[in-house]
Amino acid sequence: MDLLDIIKRDLEPRPWAEGERIPWDDPVISGQVLKEHLSQSSSAASRQRSEIKKHCAWIEAEFLKGPSNILDLGSGPGLYAEEFSKAGHHYTGIDISPAAIHYAKELDLADCDFILGDVRDTDFGTGRDLVLYIFGAIDLIPHEHAKKTLRSIFNCLKPGGKVLIEATSIESADQIGNQPSMWYSADEGIFSTLPHICLMESFWDEATNAATERYYIIDPQDGSVQRYSATTIGYDPQDLFDMLTEVGFVHPRIHETLTGEGEDFAMEFSIVSAVRPE
Ligand SMILES: C[S@@+](CC[C@H](N)C(=O)[O-])C[C@H]1O[C@@H](n2cnc3c(N)ncnc32)[C@H](O)[C@@H]1O
Repeated sequence: MDLLDIIKRDLEPRPWAEGERIPWDDPVISGQVLKEHLSQSSSAASRQRSEIKKHCAWIEAEFLKGPSNILDLGSGPGLYAEEFSKAGHHYTGIDISPAAIHYAKELDLADCDFILGDVRDTDFGTGRDLVLYIFGAIDLIPHEHAKKTLRSIFNCLKPGGKVLIEATSIESADQIGNQPSMWYSADEGIFSTLPHICLMESFWDEATNAATERYYIIDPQDGSVQRYSATTIGYDPQDLFDMLTEVGFVHPRIHETLTGEGEDFAMEFSIVSAVRPE
């Protein structure tokens, strides 16, 4: 791709049309994203450790009765695993990022497994007490794929087992999709370890509540251009309830936050839980 391709770009790309996602599974990009996960000055990829501790304490109190079998989808580098392992739970994390899974395995946490894979085609195992699908991981895949993933979650849970989902809210997706175009230059960033220019634009598809973000990364050495696009679907709690009910879950509940108290992220996410019937 070159600069002329930017001029000739599609001015209204459909959701998912330009590639399904940022290549989180790319070794370089996943290495750069790992720095974001671990940074305590940014909550772009993972929340800060103090907040994650509060989430784990609330999740234990709200959903677990004694040592439990937890599956975490889009687990990142194991920040939640550290807390659940300390508390004596069996934890499995699945993530598509090679750098995050490598980091998590190196932690060598008691009773924790980490699997490198896409949630859409990775075996979730069986006998789970709780499945976590949090920090917007569900809204990075098309709606049909999300439904299929909910079916796999249902099947891996024990009767009485629970799922906790935290999806980007429609209001938040709308804001992402209606951001003004912008650009920046950087010595390095998520998309490149070298100096580059990034041109960003966003699109909002009202019909599907989908925000598409497009990034053109320009290499100043030769003017070559790399395009990355990502779509985020916004969900209302009712959308999630409908999907969960269709799969067979019962007792859907809305949760305001993952801490049991008010927090900055409250309006950004729709948080719901449901139960696999006994
Ligand atoms: C916003 S991060 C949240 C990480 C972690 N849950 C946390 O809160 O610290 C989303 C994670 O989902 C992972 N991810 C995105 N798409 C995925 C997919 N299709 N299958 C597995 N993991 C995926 C990314 O690599 C990333 O680690």
